[in-house]
Amino acid sequence: MIQTQKSLKSYNTFGVEARAKYFASVQSIEELKQVLQLPELESEKFLFLGGGSNILLTKDFDGCAIQLDLKGISEKQDDDNHVLITANAGENWHQFVLYCLDKNYGGLENLSLIPGNVGTSPMQNIGAYGTEIKDSFDYCEVLNLESLNIEYFNKEKCRFGYRDSIFKQEGKGKYVILNVTFRLTTQQHSIKTEYGAITTELEKLNIKNPTIQEISKAVIAIRESKLPNPKEIGNAGSFFKNPTISLEQFEVLKEKFPNIQAYPNGEWVKVPAGWLIEQCGWKGKQIGNVATHHLQSLVIINKTGNANGQEIYDFSTNIINSVKEKFGIELEREVNII
Ligand code: EPU
Repeated sequence: MIQTQKSLKSYNTFGVEARAKYFASVQSIEELKQVLQLPELESEKFLFLGGGSNILLTKDFDGCAIQLDLKGISEKQDDDNHVLITANAGENWHQFVLYCLDKNYGGLENLSLIPGNVGTSPMQNIGAYGTEIKDSFDYCEVLNLESLNIEYFNKEKCRFGYRDSIFKQEGKGKYVILNVTFRLTTQQHSIKTEYGAITTELEKLNIKNPTIQEISKAVIAIRESKLPNPKEIGNAGSFFKNPTISLEQFEVLKEKFPNIQAYPNGEWVKVPAGWLIEQCGWKGKQIGNVATHHLQSLVIINKTGNANGQEIYDFSTNIINSVKEKFGIELEREVNII
């Protein structure tokens, strides 16, 4: 059941080499509990692996890595226009989205082609093109690592924020997400096309009243046109969060940089990190084995395939320093650093 000195290269989408002292892949909650209670692992740390699409392994892991290979999807009717659909943590996110679209269940179409597994989707409240999972999330079940009891987290308890949840804050390291339930529409779908790129893509495809399946197609086309496929080139999507600054700080920056872009939100303004990074001359720039993507500076790539995690981390520190120096804004990493 337990392997030793296991390479994690194929378990992280950056494709960096790092070894785990111990490793197990679990197919059920019972197996997971068994591993957690093995006497030989009593004093070990644990690392839970989903799709490996949001982690950067900077060194070997001195503990036990557990791959959550929990599979299965089930559903039950909620009301005339809604279904509650539950997917176990190890289901691939995009395959799950396609499964829902195939059944004509709406709510996740804007989140097509996001890498990773269902189990990690609530951690950072994955989002794209005007939608976040919190919009259709109903609840998730988690294993409490201290008591080994299963607990129920509704939306409120998850405390979702922009790329944030309780699982990245005070709940960090305390729970393993076992399954997630979404409340999706079955007939009257709410179509979200306000995100500029979707409108443009639909116009290109000459689609006037898009179905949820057509929205998904448009999102896939946009993502494929500017984001690198992790199967071909190692990356973890956006490496940084888009920073939020005060309206006051924004006004000052606007004087100096009239082209600065922003998404205003009351007293606050969200500034696209990709723009800031590009302005500092980092777009497509390569140092050693690492680079930013030539079409999207927010995505750091393992350009040669031979990068190690520390090299990627150092590259990201250089970007943070540049942006801080030019704009006085401190970028925050979105990717989990291990
Ligand atoms: N931009 C630049 N230069 C760049 C990159 C972007 O000027 O190198 C500008 C673009 O021109 C655009 C703006 O920045 O005006 C925003 O760019 P984009 O639409 O690509 O979105 P983003 O803010 O960079 C966020 C998410 C993505 C998500 C997209 C679409 C974060 C950290 N990232 O990116 O999520 O797909 O919006 O909704 O919020 C991810 O989290 O891994 C991810 C890919």
